[in-house]
Amino acid sequence: MRKRDLPPRPEDLDCLVDLHLHLDGALSPANVRALAAMQGIPVPSDEDELLRLLRVDENCHSLNDFLTKFAFPCSLLQTADGLRTAVRNLLCEINEQGVAYAEVRFAPQLSTEKGLSQDNAVEAALAGIAESGVPAQLILCCMRGADPEVNRETVKTAKKYLGRGVCALDLAGAEALFPNADYAELFAEARRLGVPFTLHAGEADGPDSVRTALDMGACRIGHGVRAYEDPDLPALLAGRGIPLELCPTSNLCTEVFPDLSAYPLRALMDAGVTVTVNTDDPSIEGTTLRTEYRRLIETFALTRPEVRRLLNDAIRASFAPADLKKRLLARVREALRA
Ligand code: ADE
Ligand code: ZN
Repeated sequence: MRKRDLPPRPEDLDCLVDLHLHLDGALSPANVRALAAMQGIPVPSDEDELLRLLRVDENCHSLNDFLTKFAFPCSLLQTADGLRTAVRNLLCEINEQGVAYAEVRFAPQLSTEKGLSQDNAVEAALAGIAESGVPAQLILCCMRGADPEVNRETVKTAKKYLGRGVCALDLAGAEALFPNADYAELFAEARRLGVPFTLHAGEADGPDSVRTALDMGACRIGHGVRAYEDPDLPALLAGRGIPLELCPTSNLCTEVFPDLSAYPLRALMDAGVTVTVNTDDPSIEGTTLRTEYRRLIETFALTRPEVRRLLNDAIRASFAPADLKKRLLARVREALRA
């Protein structure tokens, strides 16, 4: 391979963008210990035992199994101080790992067990972003299976803070049990209010779930990877310019694919789909964004221009303001200068 085609070393990249990153799935062991200590919550002192509590193991065979890991990290996100610290520490850690901009998502309705309102939870998370000094915004998750009134409250909260640190809404949780179509009215309200949204779709459920998300007005798709099962859907996504937030290791953990070589990265890229590379729940999966890029580069023998496309597409697909996008694109140009 000529030098100008050689892929970059992921450890050299500091211009990465993570568009699909759940706060509760991203608490490192160090962050967990800090949050537990400040709130008097007991956690195992043994590191392996703590990792067993946080990470999925060989007993995880589906998204439903995967989602059982979230009760513990959520228990650490029930106070304003806890949320602020969790977000600050997360952003500082991932910035050290090459992430220059992140859209951190969380469900404010899952942080109300000790009396916080959804607005309180969002304000605490925004304070964490400000303290970190790392460019980032929040995506607020509505939850599948939740009380509809509580989800409507999340939509209202997103509208209230939109453009002030909140950039979009999402729908998270068990996709196969609670299909996207059940939330058409909720997201019609988001549209009326002018709040953009990305929806988890085509992860635990098939390509029709992605089509439903498109019909509902999603401007990005969380995962969307199973779009490749429908011969016409990749071209539709490409034609409409709707980006996919791919999260490869997450899809291996939930057994959407048996191994990375079966991952349809090239099929989607070749169809002209805008694909972005993300972590989803790095602490639960035991990954980082650099690791995701490394695995894809190695498995698919990605060239430098292909990595450049992935990095640039992530920036362009983000909800970052135009001036920040420009600066991030310039950093990619610099980092990939052959
Ligand atoms: N919440 C956290 N991770 C998730 C995922 N991969 N799918 C749906 N909901 C989630
Ligand atoms: Zn997700």
